[in-house]
Amino acid sequence: MKKKVLIISLFAICCCGISSVIGQTGNLIGKNICAFYPAHYDAKPNLPSFALLKEPKTIGEVPKNWSLKPHFYSKNGKTIAALPIAKGTSLYGTGENTGSLIRNGKTITLWNTDNYKYQMDSGKRLYQSHPWVLGVDRDGTAFGVIADNSWKQQVELSDSIRFISDGPAFRVLVIQRNSPQEVIKELANLTGKMEMPPLWALGYQQSRYSYVPDTRIKEIADTLRMKSLPCDVIWMDINYMERFKIFTFDKINMPDPQAVNNYLHQKEFKSVWMIDPGVKVEKDYFVYESGSVGNHWVQNAEHKEFNGTVWPGKCAFPDFTRPETRSWWSALYKDFMATGIDGVWNDMNEPSVFDGPGVSMPENNWHRGGGDLQADVHLRYHNVYGMLMVKASRDGILKVNLDKRPFILSRSGFLGSSRYAATWTGDNCGTVEHMKMSVPLSLNLGLSGQPFSGPDMGGYALNTTSDLFGQWIAMGAFFPFMRGHAEKGTNNKEPWAFGTEIENVSRTALNRRYRLLPYFYTLFYEASKTGMPVMRPVFFADPKDVTLRNEEQTFLVGDNLLIIPKWAVNPSLPKGSWRTLSITGENSTIDKYQADVKVKGGAIIPMGKIIQNTTQYSLDSLTLIVSLDKNGKATGTLYEDAGDGFQYLKGEFLISGFTAKLGGSVVKVEITVKEGALKQGKRKYKVIVVTDNGSIESDWIQKNSISIKMP
Ligand code: NOJ
Repeated sequence: MKKKVLIISLFAICCCGISSVIGQTGNLIGKNICAFYPAHYDAKPNLPSFALLKEPKTIGEVPKNWSLKPHFYSKNGKTIAALPIAKGTSLYGTGENTGSLIRNGKTITLWNTDNYKYQMDSGKRLYQSHPWVLGVDRDGTAFGVIADNSWKQQVELSDSIRFISDGPAFRVLVIQRNSPQEVIKELANLTGKMEMPPLWALGYQQSRYSYVPDTRIKEIADTLRMKSLPCDVIWMDINYMERFKIFTFDKINMPDPQAVNNYLHQKEFKSVWMIDPGVKVEKDYFVYESGSVGNHWVQNAEHKEFNGTVWPGKCAFPDFTRPETRSWWSALYKDFMATGIDGVWNDMNEPSVFDGPGVSMPENNWHRGGGDLQADVHLRYHNVYGMLMVKASRDGILKVNLDKRPFILSRSGFLGSSRYAATWTGDNCGTVEHMKMSVPLSLNLGLSGQPFSGPDMGGYALNTTSDLFGQWIAMGAFFPFMRGHAEKGTNNKEPWAFGTEIENVSRTALNRRYRLLPYFYTLFYEASKTGMPVMRPVFFADPKDVTLRNEEQTFLVGDNLLIIPKWAVNPSLPKGSWRTLSITGENSTIDKYQADVKVKGGAIIPMGKIIQNTTQYSLDSLTLIVSLDKNGKATGTLYEDAGDGFQYLKGEFLISGFTAKLGGSVVKVEITVKEGALKQGKRKYKVIVVTDNGSIESDWIQKNSISIKMP
């Protein structure tokens, strides 16, 4: 597969005072995608790839004019791949990390870390590892680089991109495309795509560490409904367990989980329950007993069961590199899910070990592997521990609920783990700084192949002020994942906990999100098909416009909505016409909290009704927001399916296309079915044409062609 180009790296010698330069071979593995190998590349300690869906096939030689080639060398016991970059290149990606959207000048450690309040190492390492960099050249063309290995490593972004690994020499994949969007799609082709989540996972989700006893859960659910605060999910954190033992229920706090789930379902809520990897070492505890019988535990350097402390005290940890362990783990979900649980929250899966080095396991712990995975040290498998765990969780859940789309939220992750789980950005703080930081965090996750993410809205640690909560929920309504969560011991952070003003702010924010669900769901479909993120950086509107490259206060939802949080100061906004949209009658230009939402000229946005949860989701009356471009035209799309289950894979979906055209003083909107076999019920439409001087509304009309006269 290799032996095509052999280059001794003068660049590396000059810049780095290196101890050993390694040659390089490379080949073409796709249109404008090349794989580069260090000379004497050893596949054994690197493959199979965790990031890639499948082994790439060689289809030719590295093109003669290909400029982006890595130089491989080693220094101080580290193996390094370095790619020189042109001046003016903007760098992104590298997954979940604190700091600015643009990554130039940053050094990021890829070592999944339970990083409470993002304090350790100044947040240079968080819960996930994405050995991936997106580069956007001055002219808007773009490239992407994958360092295809799971070992502990650093990404150093300066005048070059350097991956500095603690493991053996690894291969590097380079994608070249005409735009960053095309690079992201190619990343998804290589590393896989998120599957369609259930519609309910797009709704608002209410969480706290922890809602106990069970009566408190009912109270929370009832209050949300009583106050007409739309919500889809209530979350169960660790206190439902008996002494934090996974797959158990506490006799006092949670005597009857089935009854709780029934209650929630009756009120049109779903429930998501936490499962951590640490298994309490305790005689007669069925998980520890069966895990020990199956020999499922990660071992220490002496090849004995490794134990470390997490919530339940002394714990053993499943060795998810073993296929037998993954099957055993999957099977544990059977009885658990049978209590009526809808989704699973896999937390602490870096894995977090309170008394271990760097809050995890020793690097020389031992994983036994199996199947195509080799036995090796933790240093190699640490970053994919959580990914392997959620893969097994997903399999288990799927087996129990054959006709439901699995929903898993995972704290830890690796490049490609959106194939198995959504994510949130861990234990942030209830501070303005962390609220602002949540924008570049989720944007870079989206630019690293994870479209489904969001922060603990309102902030996890520390008390949250009413003003901050108001700002955060008003912005959070436009994140792909929208969940309020809070740490034990902090003030109540439910939308009503801050008084009437913020309760009203929250209701408006939630109503805005729920009205936009048809648009969001269409974007999730796009993400599942192409890998395009739901939440996009503003520079996507015009990758050639370098003034947008570091815009990280505002963001796009899809291509057509621009979200400007109220706290944004002098944001750099894309050119062209972007018109303020009133979604629920609010006036965001004067509102103290509601983010300004602008719709792009040339777009048609489908909007539903204000509903209290997605069980009530219906497209029988659809509002089409039309914003014409300078040629008097606009287009839009709507994806719909059953909202759950897998019939959509068999054609039970519908994609509708909308077009609008101004002729004289009349805007004519046409609705056509583009694809899919889902039967559409009766549907009436209201067209709202948003202009620079206000908006013009049609009546409700049950036709596929609607004309509206402009004043
Ligand atoms: C750590 C998680 O990040 C947090 O969200 C959760 O509440 C606690 N673990 C307790 O389970």
